[in-house]
Amino acid sequence: MTLTNDYPALKAQYEAAGQGHVFTFYNDLSAQEQEAFLDQLKMFDPEELSKIALKAMGESKQPAVKQQACLEPLPRNVTDKVCSASADRKEGWKKLGMDLIRQNKVAVILMAGGQGTRLGSDAPKGCYDIGLPSHKSLFQLQAERILRLQALARGDREEESIIPWYIMTSGPTHEPTCEFFEKHNYFGLSRDNVIFFKQGVMPCFTEDGKLMLQEKGKLAIAPDGNGGIYSALHREGIIASLKKRGVLYSHCYCVDNSLARVADPVFIGYCASKSTDCGIKVVPKSHPEEPVGVVCKCDDKYGVVEYSEISKELAFKRQEDGTLAFGAANIANHFFSTEFLERVPSFAHTLAYHVAHKKIPYTDLTNGQFIKPTKNNGVKLERFVFDVFGHSHAFSVLEVGRALEFSPLKNGSGAGVDCPETSRADILQQHAQFIIEAGGHVKDGVSIEISPLVSYAGEGLEIVKGKTVIQSGVVKTIEDLKQMLA
Ligand code: UTP
Repeated sequence: MTLTNDYPALKAQYEAAGQGHVFTFYNDLSAQEQEAFLDQLKMFDPEELSKIALKAMGESKQPAVKQQACLEPLPRNVTDKVCSASADRKEGWKKLGMDLIRQNKVAVILMAGGQGTRLGSDAPKGCYDIGLPSHKSLFQLQAERILRLQALARGDREEESIIPWYIMTSGPTHEPTCEFFEKHNYFGLSRDNVIFFKQGVMPCFTEDGKLMLQEKGKLAIAPDGNGGIYSALHREGIIASLKKRGVLYSHCYCVDNSLARVADPVFIGYCASKSTDCGIKVVPKSHPEEPVGVVCKCDDKYGVVEYSEISKELAFKRQEDGTLAFGAANIANHFFSTEFLERVPSFAHTLAYHVAHKKIPYTDLTNGQFIKPTKNNGVKLERFVFDVFGHSHAFSVLEVGRALEFSPLKNGSGAGVDCPETSRADILQQHAQFIIEAGGHVKDGVSIEISPLVSYAGEGLEIVKGKTVIQSGVVKTIEDLKQMLA
C-alpha cells in the first residue's frame, strides 16, 4: 500500500465528518489511482459538505406549500409587458439596447452545463439537431442570432460591434462543447469572442446524507446547478474579462430555449432604462396549474416560487385586470449588471442548496460492484440561478410573448411536450409569423425556415409585403426569399 502525505490527514477529516466510508476500497487502488482520489477529496471540506447536505435535505422535507401570507404578487412598478407597452416605449427600449450593443457594452452568458438527462442525447444539448430543414444545432442558431445582431448594430460603420459570448459548461459538457465549436469553425464568430468556462461540481449523497462513490476511487459528483454560474464567473476570471472589455450588462439564458432571443436589445434596453441590476424575462402562465415556477415576492424578497410550493387558491387568484396574480412564469432568462455580478460573493454564503432526487450510478460499498440504478437512489445538490434575486437593489421583470420567445427542449423525441418536435414547430411557426408581420402571407401547407443571419426578430423582410410565400424551404439570403414569393 502506498501512503501519501495527505492520506492520514484526509482520512481523519472524512471520518470526523461521518464520511470515512469513502475509503472503503482505498487499499484496492493502484498508487496512481490513490493519488487521483486524494486529489479529488482535497477539493472538498467534508464537514461543511455534510452540513450543507443535511440542511438541504431537511428543508426539502418541510411542507411543500409556502405560507400564503408570505407570498405577494409582483408590484406593478417592477413589471412591464411587451404586449401592452406603447410602440414608442418599445422602440425606445430597442434603440437603447442597440446603442449599448453598438458600444460593445453588452455580453451574453449561456448556461450550458446541464446534463440533459431527460433529452437522453450523448452530446451536450446545444449540439442537438431539432430536425429543422437546415439541420442547424441550437448552438448554431444562437451563434447566428449573435452574428446578425452584431451586423445590425454595426450598420455601415467601420468598427465592429462585438457581443462576447461566455459559455458555461460543466465536467460532462466541456470537452464536447469546445470540440463542437472547433469543428464548426465557431459558426463564423471570432474565436476570441467565444469564451468557455466551467461551472463547479458538488458530490452526490445518499438519501441519508452519505457521500456516494462512483468508482472505488472516485466520488460521485454532479454539476452544482445553474446557480453555480455566480461562483464560476469569479473563479474562472469572467468578471475580470467583462470589466476589461467594458461590458456593463449581460444577458444570461439557457441553452435549451430554441426561441431564445440572444442579447435581445428590447430586454437589454428595458432593463438598462430602469437602472436595473438584476432583471428577468417571463412569459404569462398558460393556465393556473401549469407546472412552472413563478416570479413573485416571498417574505418581502423577490424570488421564484415553484408550482409545488403555491396553494391552489393562490395559483387561481386573479388581479383586477383579470390576469393571474401569480402568473409570471420563470423561463430562466436574465439580465445582470456587471456591478451586480461582482457583488454576488458578498452574499453568496447565504444562498441555499436545493435537493434534486436523481438516479446516480454508484459503487456498492458491500461488494464493490458498479450499479446503474433504475429509480432515484440519491440526491444532487444544486443552486438555482434565481436564488440571488433577493439581493437586487433594482429588480425588473419584462413579460414577453411565449409563442415568440420560449420553447424549451427538455424531453426526447416523441414526448409531445418540450421536445424536438415542439421546438422545430415553434421555430417554423415564428418564421411564418415574421412573414405575416412584414405584410406577407404564407400559402397553406408551406413551411419556411429563415436563417437568423437574414432576420433576428422579423426585421429586414419588407420584400414580402403584399406577396405570398408559395414554396417551402430555407431562406439563407433575401434572394432565396424572393424566389419563393408569388
Ligand atoms: P435543466 O434544469 O432543465 O437541466 O437546465 P438539464 O441538464 O438541461 O436537463 P435534465 O434536467 O438533466 O433533463 C436548465 C438550464 O440550466 C443549465 C442547462 O444547461 C439548461 O440550459 N444548467 C443546468 C447548467 O448550466 N448547469 C447545471 O448544473 C444545471
